[in-house]
Amino acid sequence: MHTTQGARLALAISALVSSVVIARPMTTLQQLQQQQQQQLTFNVPQQDDTLITFNVDSLFESSSFNQLSPRDQVQLRQYVAQSPEPRLVQLDSFDAAPISITEGHKALLTLQGINFIDVTDDPTNSFASVYSNNKSKGPTYPKKLKLKLRHLQHVYNSIDQQRMMTFITKFTSFRTRHYKSDTGKQSQQFLLQTIKDIVNKGNNIDDMTKSSNVTVREFSHPWGQNSIIVRFEPDSSTVIDERIVILGAHQDSTNLLPWFAAPGADDDGSGTTTLVTTLRALIEFGFKPSDHAVEIHFYSAEEGGLLGSQAVAQSYAQQGKQVLGMLQQDMTSYVKPGTQPVIGIIRDFVNPELTDYISLVVDEFCSIGRVETQCGYACSDHASWSKIGAPSAFAIESKFEDSNKQIHSSGDTIQNVGFSIDHVEQFVRLSIALAVNLGGAKSFVKL
Ligand SMILES: *[C@@H]1O[C@H](CO)[C@@H](O)[C@H](O)[C@H]1NC(C)=O
Repeated sequence: MHTTQGARLALAISALVSSVVIARPMTTLQQLQQQQQQQLTFNVPQQDDTLITFNVDSLFESSSFNQLSPRDQVQLRQYVAQSPEPRLVQLDSFDAAPISITEGHKALLTLQGINFIDVTDDPTNSFASVYSNNKSKGPTYPKKLKLKLRHLQHVYNSIDQQRMMTFITKFTSFRTRHYKSDTGKQSQQFLLQTIKDIVNKGNNIDDMTKSSNVTVREFSHPWGQNSIIVRFEPDSSTVIDERIVILGAHQDSTNLLPWFAAPGADDDGSGTTTLVTTLRALIEFGFKPSDHAVEIHFYSAEEGGLLGSQAVAQSYAQQGKQVLGMLQQDMTSYVKPGTQPVIGIIRDFVNPELTDYISLVVDEFCSIGRVETQCGYACSDHASWSKIGAPSAFAIESKFEDSNKQIHSSGDTIQNVGFSIDHVEQFVRLSIALAVNLGGAKSFVKL
């Protein structure tokens, strides 16, 4: 999740920013850099709905800045001064025109809890137009599932919570997985090695007809922490077409400042654990999709404004790769004390048909209920896929209001009250079921 703020703030900013347009979406980066000389002024509502006007540098006078220790204040000023690279950001997923700031300014936005998407590498496509287009086109999905719970029960029985805990314990022990940090690079290397070990174990099975055909690759980013893409090749004798099924989560974490400890257990160590566990199960049972390739993506720099997923999605768009459906899982481990565990199905800024299909999968394969909810903005990496016109959806740990309030703090740990590995397991069930139902299951289950 790339902000701690909810829908109200994002909506309000959206309405206001468009009234003091800094730059139109079609403006080139060069034009925007020229305009950067002008004062960047826009209105942002405070928690109590009163409005203030400020430029980005005025965030140095904000109460969130003043609450920092003197040492952190100095360090943040240095960080901003040392990160002058021009960036274009949209302050939400709506109609707001991108504004031109610096890489360093992004830390100020994060500190202030202002939601942003970094669109520097593709400033021309507005998120808003994509969402309005998405409603009327795209693939259709079956209204009934081919598989039943009993077909996957043996796979679910193999899910090992102890191993999930071992992974997330190590993954959250890096001081931060911030996309620009050294430890963020190390955590990515650890994740990559974990994935390679799982896949290599599958490749050691002697009979190739019974094993998966999987490739693992890094998708390089200039900031150092790379995204990771795992691909299950479909069975070439039965494949229907080249459209891909994608399961995604983000591997990076953040705190309010880049150098603060950010264990990121729930955000999004939990989604990462969900997908690592899904990968392990699919490999163990020799999943070779009969209908469509299935990919598992571990994105870098979601907290930097959906940077990693946008780079991957744009590369797929340029290569003409088609996506059948993409499901993002960001925060899958928290059950608010006193509430029933449920799977939250986000209904805004998603593809409605894919979301309906995923709801069917939850109803059949998960042993807890689901609740429809809203994020209020394009709140995770699925938005990057919507932006290129690919149908995407988002599942989260609860109703949005009941989700974990410890994210983006040093309190987002596996010790946090409400952290539940049982809950993560439900998302593993969803992920396996979606991969097998949409990817095709002829080699995987006996019908
Ligand atoms: C694995 O998939 C690739 C790409 O489709 C294909 O060329 C290769 O023959 C497959 N290998 C096996 C053992 O099926």
